Amino acid sequence: MEELLSKVKTSSKLVQEGKLSYQWARSHMQILDNTINRFKKSKPLKGVTLGFCLHITKETSVLLMGAKELGATVACCGGNPLTTQDNIAAFLASQGIHVYAWHGQSVKEYDWCIDQVLKHKPTILTDDGADMNIKAHFDKRFSTMKILGATEETTAGVTRIRAVENQGKLRYPVILVNEAYTKHMFDNRYGTGQSTIDGYLRGMNLLMASKRVVVVGYGWVGRGVASRFHGMGSKVIVTEVDPIKALEAHMDGFEVMPMSQAAKIGDMFVTCTGMTSVIRKEHILQMKNGAIMGNVGHFDVEIDSKFLLKSSKSVKEVRPNLDECTLKNGKVVYLIGQGRLANLVAAEGHPPEVMAQSFSNQILSVLYILKNHKKMENKIINVPEEIDKQVAVDALNAMNVKIDKLTSEQIKYANSW
Ligand SMILES: NC(=O)c1ccc[n+]([C@@H]2O[C@H](COP(=O)([O-])OP(=O)(O)OC[C@H]3O[C@@H](n4cnc5c(N)ncnc54)[C@H](O)[C@@H]3O)[C@@H](O)[C@H]2O)c1
Repeated sequence: MEELLSKVKTSSKLVQEGKLSYQWARSHMQILDNTINRFKKSKPLKGVTLGFCLHITKETSVLLMGAKELGATVACCGGNPLTTQDNIAAFLASQGIHVYAWHGQSVKEYDWCIDQVLKHKPTILTDDGADMNIKAHFDKRFSTMKILGATEETTAGVTRIRAVENQGKLRYPVILVNEAYTKHMFDNRYGTGQSTIDGYLRGMNLLMASKRVVVVGYGWVGRGVASRFHGMGSKVIVTEVDPIKALEAHMDGFEVMPMSQAAKIGDMFVTCTGMTSVIRKEHILQMKNGAIMGNVGHFDVEIDSKFLLKSSKSVKEVRPNLDECTLKNGKVVYLIGQGRLANLVAAEGHPPEVMAQSFSNQILSVLYILKNHKKMENKIINVPEEIDKQVAVDALNAMNVKIDKLTSEQIKYANSW
């Protein structure tokens, strides 16, 4: 497998492209840049090896370069086989970061890359989806490695890490970065909202206005996706299983109905649930000719892409990242990015301003683990409130937004009965 290392692209053209992309992102990630600069002199991560399993995008490069500037040795792999931007991987490798990522990996290669990062013996892990943390717990080669703690970036990873804790098997503390307000309320909602539009446009470049768009799941991601498609003039339909979220979608002005009904009338579908099998064979068979499906949940389990890609009469890539599937009944339907994160596979993921908030939470949580790991239990914890608030203050400052302060009379009023 060692020959796989040569798959990390390193041409000077890519390095230069990646450098420009990194600089562009960094100049729009003031919050993260300020956070890095605040700690740069004291180099708090000197002597520490960090392992990252994150989508290798221009925004991630700012986080990784920042960790290096704070003194860390950095090893990274992609958070998904299809989401690595090769020019960013090339740039990071040119900067002395240990990179195990390239675009278009097989699942086996993706897995091998996680192994390589763990072989550097990182003591703090930053994960997106929990693949690295699961390995560090249950793969015998790594399950006794000394790890001080970890952070988790996304909802799907939180669900998995929570399951490990519930089984009493968590072997180090994990900070749930996804649960910070300054992460999920912005990244999951506005970040995915905008980048999903980008992914669908690049994937198909068809008119969005007047189209019926079925948004599956009305959590943080679904809310953002629904609102942005609505802004494009689409008629948004929401499907849900949670009565409160369904009611919220209804009150927000969207049609709410079960998938069995929505499947028949939707022009486009976006799955945003973190759940498995939400668009199944029986739904696909009911869809209109020409229906377009994509997923922005973390794993490629939401749409039955196996049925689409393996049982269709023919599958043809008609545009980059858009497969035309001719079903056995003659109907034609489309799948964006093989059912993997359409906003990262067909586009570039979230905008830098949003990721600056998420990654400030990440770097501050890593520093928190380093400082406090001795008194932390092997439990999952939310991002400490002081970090969440600090990121909000930094974000407002970066956007030059001023707010009021409670007067002493108001504080007294708030504390009186
Ligand atoms: N693409 C990205 O860049 C990106 C960014 C952030 C999060 N994510 C991922 O998106 C997914 C959703 O994240 P979230 O923060 O919105 O989670 P969430 O928990 O806030 O929302 C998920 C929603 O899906 C609903 N749901 C579950 N099963 C369903 C079903 N069968 N039919 C309809 N609705 C169903 C739930 O009731 C819930 O309201 C996760 O996998 C997360 O990791 C992706």
